[in-house]
Amino acid sequence: MTKHIKLSPSMMCADIGALRETLAIFEKHGVDYLHIDVMDGVFVPNLMLGTDYCARLRALSSIPLDIHLMISNPEPKIAWFAPQPGEYVSVHAESTKHLHRAIQTVQKTGARAFAALNPATPLSVVEYVMQDVSGVLLMLVNPGYAGQLLIPETLRKIRELRALADAKRLPDFEIQVDGNVGFENVKEITEAGADFIVLGSSAVFHKDYSLEEAVVKFKNTLIV
Ligand code: DX5
Ligand code: ZN
Repeated sequence: MTKHIKLSPSMMCADIGALRETLAIFEKHGVDYLHIDVMDGVFVPNLMLGTDYCARLRALSSIPLDIHLMISNPEPKIAWFAPQPGEYVSVHAESTKHLHRAIQTVQKTGARAFAALNPATPLSVVEYVMQDVSGVLLMLVNPGYAGQLLIPETLRKIRELRALADAKRLPDFEIQVDGNVGFENVKEITEAGADFIVLGSSAVFHKDYSLEEAVVKFKNTLIV
């Protein structure tokens, strides 16, 4: 039985002027989550999406949120996003001195917790929390901007993380990948062990296709 690959369009890439139409296409074609890149201009050199945007999306769509916190000192701010059961909140290991406590804070809201790692951060950083989280978000690009190119060494990182999860007998451990995942590389990325894909400008928001064409094309890419 082929594993279900979860799809999570990166809403920072969405046309804000066509939000309702965008959400209607995602609901029609059945994406799993909406990826919300939250950036504070301190942890990453960009400002992006916030608590009100999350609240508005929840009012406009039934697709659950997948909130990627690229912010400094995340613990006291997690509640600001009112995470819901069934949603995900990713906390960067590099953004806090107390990753385990941040994970507990997310889980107390009823949401699922991911630990997130920047490309250069070794897997050893999450080794002692792997049994506590739902999975790990691996950045394949340096966080902050869409449209960047994948850092090749991150492919090996996906493989090594899947091997680590298997060695720890964590069959439901999820590996989310974020950054430059597209039509050409998604097969190699899922074969390496990723099962939760952030879809940005290389995928469903690709400039050469309409949104609906790109969603259909990407889903077909996964089938073959
Ligand atoms: C970058 C964000 C990604 C980005 C993905 O910091 O975390 O979600 O939007 O977009 P692409 O696929 O264009 O790299
Ligand atoms: Zn992201």
